Amino acid sequence: MSDLPVLPPDFVFGVATASYQIEGAVREGGRGPSIWDTFSHTPGRVARGETGDVACDHYHRYREDVALLRDLGVDSYRFSTAWPRVQPEGRGPANAAGLDFYDRLVDELLAAGVAPALTLYHWDLPQALEDAGGWRARDTAHRFADYASLVVGRLGDRVARWITLNEPFCSAFIGHAEGRHAPGAREGTPALAAAHHLLLAHGLAVSCLRDAGAGEVGITLNPERITAVGGGEEEIAAARRAETLRNLAFTDPILGARYPEWERETWGPLADGSYRRDGDLAVIAAPLDFLGVNYYAPSRVAPAPRVEADPARRTAWDVGAVAAGWPGARTTEMGWPVVPSTLTDLLTGLVERYPGLPPLYITENGSAEADQVGPDGVVHDEGRVDYLREHLGAVARAVDLGVDVRGYYAWSLLDNFEWAYGYDRRFGLVHVDYDTQTRTPKDSYHWYRRAIAGHRERSARG
Ligand code: FCB
Repeated sequence: MSDLPVLPPDFVFGVATASYQIEGAVREGGRGPSIWDTFSHTPGRVARGETGDVACDHYHRYREDVALLRDLGVDSYRFSTAWPRVQPEGRGPANAAGLDFYDRLVDELLAAGVAPALTLYHWDLPQALEDAGGWRARDTAHRFADYASLVVGRLGDRVARWITLNEPFCSAFIGHAEGRHAPGAREGTPALAAAHHLLLAHGLAVSCLRDAGAGEVGITLNPERITAVGGGEEEIAAARRAETLRNLAFTDPILGARYPEWERETWGPLADGSYRRDGDLAVIAAPLDFLGVNYYAPSRVAPAPRVEADPARRTAWDVGAVAAGWPGARTTEMGWPVVPSTLTDLLTGLVERYPGLPPLYITENGSAEADQVGPDGVVHDEGRVDYLREHLGAVARAVDLGVDVRGYYAWSLLDNFEWAYGYDRRFGLVHVDYDTQTRTPKDSYHWYRRAIAGHRERSARG
């Protein structure tokens, strides 16, 4: 009994990871430094001063990790390539040892019957590019396209699903406006420029991937289901600003070929468009084969005073809206409310807003729980099992309502380096003991395996 909601027979089940969060080996194989190396090594940036130097040591243990994927029975594995392994300084010819690593990983996956889904950018920008302006500089978008060409040139014959960027919202705004992620900046117009150049990088890379005959091509966004705390004018306006910052800055250009209507209202003079050029939108809105959606939690927002009174001196984070919590909901170890029905609402909302929306994959969904390995070597993570089951149920409901969702990737295969929180927030289906690198599948891993097997049996019976 898998107690899994009924999903279409060819629905893809997967799990996801990201390079900096699991690989370690940051100075091996000719890898150059990334902004996350710099950031995590800067005192005060990451909890307890933790870094991705070793992480899950996946660089050396990838065969063991692929064996876990095979036993889990997933159809697909979403991972990311580290740009500074492929181009240590973010430009120029490929570093052969870097591409060789991903080549071996891809072959290992294929031999295990697991289809690779490759994300080109999950936040580890080469530090040399940051030194030249990073995402604030238009040139970085062109460098990204070159990097995409190198990766697809080597792996395009074996990787069926390509994701340009992971969550550009986080790269642009958590990285350049809130400052909680690398490169840790708190800026106004430069943060909006970073957002624009990420969009442009995506569009240019789509064209390179198409030229190289890549399989399915898409991008992963993390749209949040946002609601206002009430129906008053101020409350609705605050939710609109939050929605613009969080969602529309990305979904409107990519899926609607337009810049968001409320950007002036949200950012005032910061949104001066100085970073845009004629023709950019057409590049950014290139047709996609799928949209990847990462979803964890909804957000209720309330109006708040702006932190900085002078509009010209604000950061792009300072939009006059704050999260107001979700009364009555359980929260995970991240403090995020668990409200699975909001995933259904988000997906149906995307279909309504964007005619011609491509098919969707949920490319991340999961929960951080206070996992403990028991004396019997077992990890009872009922909270995560419930979370996954309920969110798969929310996906199944969206499918019943006519949303074309093709697959679901649980975050994450392994416990890993959870960015500014370091290692104490555990999202894995597999527990990692960071002292010994021992992997212990949790109850959620066993549940997911049974659910996938049950789905296959049911589909085979027809
Ligand atoms: C997402 C990130 C992923 C992971 C999860 C918990 O925003 O894409 O790397 O950290 O959150």
